[in-house]
Amino acid sequence: MSETTLGVGVRGPESAVRKGTARLDPVALRARFPILGRRVNGHRLVYLDNAATTQKPEAVLDAVERYYRLSNANVHRGVHTLAEEATAAYEACRQQVARFLNAPDRRGVIILRNATEALNLVARSWGARLGPGDEVIATEMEHHSNLVPWIMLARERGVTIRHVPITDGGELDLDAYERLLSPRTRVVAVTAMSNVLGTINPVAAMAASAHRAGAVVVVDGAQSVPHLPVDFTGLGADFLAFSAHKAYGPTGVGFLVGRPELLDEMEPISGGGEMIREVHLDRATWNDIPHRFEAGTPNIADAAAFPAALDLLEELGMEAVRQHEEDLVAYAIDRLRSLPFLRLHGPMEPTRRGALVSFVDPDIHPHDQAQVLDGLGIAVRAGHHCAQPLMRRLGEAATTRASFGIHNDRDDVDALMDGLVTTRRYFGL
Ligand SMILES: Cc1ncc(COP(=O)(O)O)c(C=O)c1O
Repeated sequence: MSETTLGVGVRGPESAVRKGTARLDPVALRARFPILGRRVNGHRLVYLDNAATTQKPEAVLDAVERYYRLSNANVHRGVHTLAEEATAAYEACRQQVARFLNAPDRRGVIILRNATEALNLVARSWGARLGPGDEVIATEMEHHSNLVPWIMLARERGVTIRHVPITDGGELDLDAYERLLSPRTRVVAVTAMSNVLGTINPVAAMAASAHRAGAVVVVDGAQSVPHLPVDFTGLGADFLAFSAHKAYGPTGVGFLVGRPELLDEMEPISGGGEMIREVHLDRATWNDIPHRFEAGTPNIADAAAFPAALDLLEELGMEAVRQHEEDLVAYAIDRLRSLPFLRLHGPMEPTRRGALVSFVDPDIHPHDQAQVLDGLGIAVRAGHHCAQPLMRRLGEAATTRASFGIHNDRDDVDALMDGLVTTRRYFGL
């Protein structure tokens, strides 16, 4: 399928994630998300802001409550029953993330607060070995989370950052990427899917080139993990970051998946409880991975609840999720192109993009457009989407972004289209 050729969704036959037996039925799925039953400003809620955060299914809400009602205790510290249950639930999350992404070892799954924290951990800890003369390659389409940590590293350690430009079609210029690679390249930091353009990047091929140059590959999986089949081992990535809250899980939990042999060599960036082996007044030694990077009491309840979200995605099967969302984005592009005044960004070929669309009506500011749409119960995002360099490249101050999930269907796209026409009427256009 398309992601495979693009090097994003290479999933080995040994993958434990089931292909999914049930046909993906967005209307039936909506019933599993309590919030989607509510009305907003007198209308059915049409939630099209999944790239910012997804809504939570009942099973996730129940899991959070069940944890606090029945098993609340601190992890890894007690021998009493509740402590053991809490630890088991927390560790089950790690195990399931490793399985979901076909990571080689659960020790390589670090449980953090979000993708941002995961990317900062790599930049600060792995980046500590870099200095003047070393280069980091990022891309023009990165979210600030995969730009600013490298900028901070450049400031602190004199590292040079280079950027892969994008083409006018909203894809990475891969020839330019190959030219940027050199023996000085130590890190390639790339998003697997753009949160503005939707572009799916050929991460596996880019990783192979990066490794030939001797660099490590840091993949921002914040948008790809919830929407595409992602195989950490098949990708050839060294590190991959993502957030639970964009994958139908709770806020406050994110992951760094890394190759254990690299993590083993890395220094912690936060000190405190849990991350040590032995402490003296003047010195300390570090715990093994993954605990070395998990100082202090973690967000146990939300980590314990995330497997309920992964269960849902596994029940559907990520291939089915992708197929559904690819069909939906194809329909959305088709319909949006029928409004000739709209500037639509990103690749027009649905197989090359994820399930989101960014566009600008030249006569209406995206914030005004989003506000009128909200009055119709349609939730979209307007702004720079934490990608200011990309917006500059696109020549836009802001765009309106509609991003889809498993519970969206063509009716939602039609509602958006009607909303865009209503917005123009509202402004007398
Ligand atoms: C591509 C991408 N990377 C990183 C992030 C950061 O995610 P979080 O805020 O959960 O850390 C986002 C969030 O919008 C994103 O879209």
